[in-house]
Amino acid sequence: MKRERIKHVLSIVETGSSITVKGWVRTCRKVKDLIFIEINDGSDIESLQVVVEPKIEAYKQLAELTTGSSLSVTGTLVESPAAGQRVELNAEEAEIYGLTDASAYPLQKKRHSFEFLREIAHLRPRTNTFGAVFRVRNSLAHAVHSFFQQREFLYVNTPIITANDCEGAGELFHVTTLDPLKQNKDYGDDFFGKKASLTVSGQLEGELFATALDRIYTFGPTFRAENSNTSRHLAEFWMVEPEAAFNDINDNMDLAEDFLKHIILSVLDECPKDMDFFDKRIKPGLIKNLEKIVSSKFERMTYTEAVKTLIDSKEKFNFKVEWGCDLQSEHERFLVEKKIGSPVILTDYPRTLKPFYMYCNSDSKTVRGMDVLVPGVGEIIGGSEREYRLDLLLDRMKELNLNEEDYDWYIDTRRFGTVPHSGFGLGFERAVQFVTGMENIRDVIPFARTPKNLKF
Ligand code: 4AD
Ligand code: MG
Repeated sequence: MKRERIKHVLSIVETGSSITVKGWVRTCRKVKDLIFIEINDGSDIESLQVVVEPKIEAYKQLAELTTGSSLSVTGTLVESPAAGQRVELNAEEAEIYGLTDASAYPLQKKRHSFEFLREIAHLRPRTNTFGAVFRVRNSLAHAVHSFFQQREFLYVNTPIITANDCEGAGELFHVTTLDPLKQNKDYGDDFFGKKASLTVSGQLEGELFATALDRIYTFGPTFRAENSNTSRHLAEFWMVEPEAAFNDINDNMDLAEDFLKHIILSVLDECPKDMDFFDKRIKPGLIKNLEKIVSSKFERMTYTEAVKTLIDSKEKFNFKVEWGCDLQSEHERFLVEKKIGSPVILTDYPRTLKPFYMYCNSDSKTVRGMDVLVPGVGEIIGGSEREYRLDLLLDRMKELNLNEEDYDWYIDTRRFGTVPHSGFGLGFERAVQFVTGMENIRDVIPFARTPKNLKF
């Protein structure tokens, strides 16, 4: 018999049909001579209750079931007399695939800490919280593609191994086949014959395609050897980077705002049960806040205005605020969470704080960079209008001691038919955090890579 996934079984209106489900046991208990099995197959946060009467052949075997065991059950779907569930399955036939040793199974009925679950990679996705996290993550990824595909952005795959440091922050993981323990080698002897690293951003390569195909986006892994052990940083994370020719900074802000609203709405629509779970168990008020964010306009403010607001607030900060300083997360959080209470887009940062590729304003002091800050997470998007004027780009590269030859291929975009263009990068895990309310970024990625931590 064709197998049904539990998600669909739970929504079947007409009872009485015969169905097969397959999954893993959440709980199994005996009440008098009836066995009640909660079975979950990962398709839904809710499990299906299976009721086993002594008359069926597999009764004896099923009585031995332990939490975590896997099985197939065929039976009749009936209305459930029990509270809290609409339907249940009266078992007729069953097959057990794998039993668990109950005393060794790490997932007990009590609640486990997320830190503990991170250590047991295989069983973590079997819990309610992580099942929900990864269904929402999937739904967000789908929404990313649907948003850009609807707007005719082309999905471009930029390389993972590169020879450039897009952000200029020097946070590169080197890629080499040389043995670091053997001396007397230089990059010329290495696999690529030059210094190579894992990409920190697909932007520069993305710009080449946007200045030919008009609108593109990338969605792939990026790597940063930042020694930051925070709840917002990973060494390997996924980034979504749209780039659009003929867009200025205002178009870029509009795109970022529409994009965030689209992916939030889409998840609320596609994953109502999982979102309900986060709202009840992880972050009370989450759904209401997200709905509010979707229906109101994001505040927009220049860096200069933000600095003034922070100074005028008389709030005590650990890091002093003055024009030219890099805003710390305490400053960003104050603005977004206390002052404004909703997402804020900051623009026009001091030139000295931002990478070489940003468009320089006529004051020569600020560039058309933009950061989107959201409550609870802080910076979720970073982007800019790009410097498309050849001479100004070259000046800026000189100022930052970037070797023009290394970037020749990039500078070509400004040599031959240059156009204004803009783009941004969304930290995908930060988006998952924002939508689910999960506190730690390690808990929204299947396998977290952070300093001194490379398990699995
Ligand atoms: O602000 P960033 O550094 O911008 C860029 O890389 C641009 N090249 C993007 C572009 O314009 N195409 O990074 C973009 C976003 C940040 O806003 C943040 O959400 C996320 O990437 N991010 C991280 N997420 C997790 N762990 C880290 N270590 C991150 N570093 C940045
Ligand atoms: Mg940034």
